[in-house]
Amino acid sequence: MMTSACAKIILCGEHAVVYGQPAIAVPISDLRVTVTTAPAEQLTFTLVDTGMQIAGLDADTAITQIARLTLETLNIPAPKVALHITSTIPVASGLGSGAALSAAIVRILCQISGKILPDETVNRLVYEVEKMHHGTPSGIDNTVIVYECPIYFVRGQDIRFITVDSPLHFVIADTGIPAPTKLSVGDVRRLYESEPERIRPIIESIGTLVEQIDKQLVTGDIATMGSLLTQNHQLLQQLTVSSPELDYLVNAALQAGAAGAKLSGGGRGGNMLALVTPETLSPVKEALHKAGAVHVYETTLTGNTTR
Ligand code: PMV
Repeated sequence: MMTSACAKIILCGEHAVVYGQPAIAVPISDLRVTVTTAPAEQLTFTLVDTGMQIAGLDADTAITQIARLTLETLNIPAPKVALHITSTIPVASGLGSGAALSAAIVRILCQISGKILPDETVNRLVYEVEKMHHGTPSGIDNTVIVYECPIYFVRGQDIRFITVDSPLHFVIADTGIPAPTKLSVGDVRRLYESEPERIRPIIESIGTLVEQIDKQLVTGDIATMGSLLTQNHQLLQQLTVSSPELDYLVNAALQAGAAGAKLSGGGRGGNMLALVTPETLSPVKEALHKAGAVHVYETTLTGNTTR
């Protein structure tokens, strides 16, 4: 048996989403966690890329936590099976590797048991584990990964799946600097609590930008959308979550002709994204490599994505 789950990237609205503002996230279907099964004496998990192996469910790790929660929900004992896990999603870089791993584990345990859990339940289980590891996550990561569809997300509200009229091309570049989201989220909270009058308008302005970007996703005006994304980066700089490396990559992308560019996710390291056209795709990728990005990916948000 085999199953998998995709990576994700936040298009706009990160950090502000924690305070009730909207954010938009998109799946990256080319990067995935894949789980396959093999016969075994007991339930074991092997992270093939690192060689790490976990036998049974006693260890206190994200993998065993999600497995325990899933087995409880399915109301079945631990199956006697070895789970081999491989991943092409870089860890701790804002691409949702942890949530994708959890989603893939839930799915494989469902397959093994022959039972189906609705996406809503899978999402809830993955969110439980996200909370154990990321403090106060908004829930956007698990949601976009479980549904594998672009989403407009407001904490505590129904998810809206996004339809785009024409394909949008993005280049994603990794600074190579691991960036624990929990730390930047905690720092923004402290900043907000110490200077609410200054920080609240920044967070609200991010929300306004997200609403404008959402409209541009339908009209497909690349220049306007790009400018809005770059403005989002500037507001994230004011929230102190950018870094010299992220700023350098953002500037390199803009200079190479990207319509807009910004950091993505928790910030301080991890990834940035640039909105490009088919014409600027190659020069922007090249510029990002030259500027020191350790990985450069491309992803296309295709037209008429519906769910
Ligand atoms: O670092 P990432 O891509 O997992 O994104 C975190 C997004 C934040 O808005 C910073 C936090 C959250 O829980 O939404």
